[in-house]
Amino acid sequence: MSEPLIEVTDLRYVYHSDTPQAVVALDGLSFSVEPGEYLGIVGGNGSGKSTLAKHLNALLLPASGTVRVGGLDTRDRAAIWEIRRRVGMIFQNPDNQLVATVVEEDVAFGPENLGLPPAMIRERVGEALAAVGMTEFRRRAPHLLSGGQKQRVAIAGILAMRPACLVLDEATTMLDPAGRAEVLETLAVLNRRDGVTIMLISHAMEDLADAGRIIAMDRGRIVLDGPAARVMARADEIPGGRLGAPQMAKLARWLREDGLRLPEGAHTVEALADAVAAAAGLGTQGDV
Ligand SMILES: Nc1ncnc2c1ncn2[C@@H]1O[C@H](COP(=O)(O)OP(=O)(O)O)[C@@H](O)[C@H]1O
Ligand SMILES: [Mg+2]
Repeated sequence: MSEPLIEVTDLRYVYHSDTPQAVVALDGLSFSVEPGEYLGIVGGNGSGKSTLAKHLNALLLPASGTVRVGGLDTRDRAAIWEIRRRVGMIFQNPDNQLVATVVEEDVAFGPENLGLPPAMIRERVGEALAAVGMTEFRRRAPHLLSGGQKQRVAIAGILAMRPACLVLDEATTMLDPAGRAEVLETLAVLNRRDGVTIMLISHAMEDLADAGRIIAMDRGRIVLDGPAARVMARADEIPGGRLGAPQMAKLARWLREDGLRLPEGAHTVEALADAVAAAAGLGTQGDV
């Protein structure tokens, strides 16, 4: 078996430790991420998602437990730059992540810092912009782009460093519905077509429709970890305010309670329609 890309073991983190204001933000987390996974992390406000994200590229170090990236311990100071190259982070506000006045210069920033030769930088910038569908905008000014386009440029800037994994912390939260959809579509394509490992962190379960696996967090702990369909079907067990089951999972549960025999995992309109048709003995949608 291949080595996990990320391996978190008994991770604990306390803000302001040894003071009366101590906050236990992570309280014994363990999980690993395999290359090529699309992992969603969901949880209410304050559940510890951002604190976890910051441990994945050594912005924070464990109070106890370990975080390994491709076998490298984040506490190993000599490994820190290699870890940050491997785990690319995208944050909530795209404006804070764009530094240059032209899109392609922005995307070149990372590979330039890696000290790569100019020809290789140009090649990587071209590939990264193509990967997120922003080639035609390469000479534009980033501040004139839409929110969704800005996040795609930010993603391209990370891809240009050839990371092993993209970690996105509420990267869709500030976007309008169209921008949110275009960023999610970009991530799905990067994962499916290019095999990029994705960790998408969000307070909103609706964002995680493309995840293959979902981890749900509450008060610094993992409360559910499993195939996306199974976690979505149990979404109302996840504490934390604005979560709420996606409509299809909710509908499927109601129908099950009404006695319809539905398989787990029908959480898109098409899948649920097919499952209902099959359960009612009508054949699939296509046959109707
Ligand atoms: N810089 C900080 N100082 C003190 N407490 C913090 C800090 N950042 C986060 N916390 C606390 O740690 C807990 C987890 O926060 P966070 O990781 O930001 O959760 P989430 O991203 O899920 O909203 C919360 O109780 C939060 O108030
Ligand atoms: Mg957060």
